[in-house]
Amino acid sequence: MDRTGLRLLTYGLYVASVGGSEIVAAVINRVSQTSFNPPLVVIALKRDTSINRVLRKKRYMTLNVVPEGDIEIVKAFFGKLNFTEDSVNGYKYRVSEKSGGIILLDSVGYIEVELVEVVETGDHDVFICKYVGGEILNEAKRPLVIWDTPWYYGG
Ligand SMILES: Cc1cc2nc3c(=O)[nH]c(=O)nc-3n(C[C@H](O)[C@H](O)[C@H](O)COP(=O)(O)O)c2cc1C
Repeated sequence: MDRTGLRLLTYGLYVASVGGSEIVAAVINRVSQTSFNPPLVVIALKRDTSINRVLRKKRYMTLNVVPEGDIEIVKAFFGKLNFTEDSVNGYKYRVSEKSGGIILLDSVGYIEVELVEVVETGDHDVFICKYVGGEILNEAKRPLVIWDTPWYYGG
């Protein structure tokens, strides 16, 4: 079956991050709010990835919203994390008290979620999470959408 129709769904791009004994991060796009009360979001994470494994243990995650026109941030977080004193992969950051993951100071802002339940169907597990905080860091910036990048992660 031709599944390119699925590419019509619109997504933002996020640098998702969790800290445990090590800090892990991944570029993801499959994130959506599902409930007002309580405020729930679903996040689909590929099975057998570091972020999937560490989120199950830590139970909190930070999602950094990538700004419009800034696909360089996305590219920078395709690979492993390289920390200097105040930057990670070339971007200034601080560590989230809730998730232990990275908060990117150049992002539009970030949200933080707490894991409620994992549904294991398909090749990505669905993490049902509660919104537990968030902050706009750069009011003038708008979120990047996957349509405005060279990538698809759907279909
Ligand atoms: C544009 C784009 C969007 C992505 N979206 C997701 C996503 O929503 N969920 C996911 O699990 N992986 C997504 N990935 C894949 C992850 O970035 C990456 O493959 C995975 O986290 C690798 O983890 P590992 O280093 O532990 O193997 C996406 C990749 C790209 C290029």
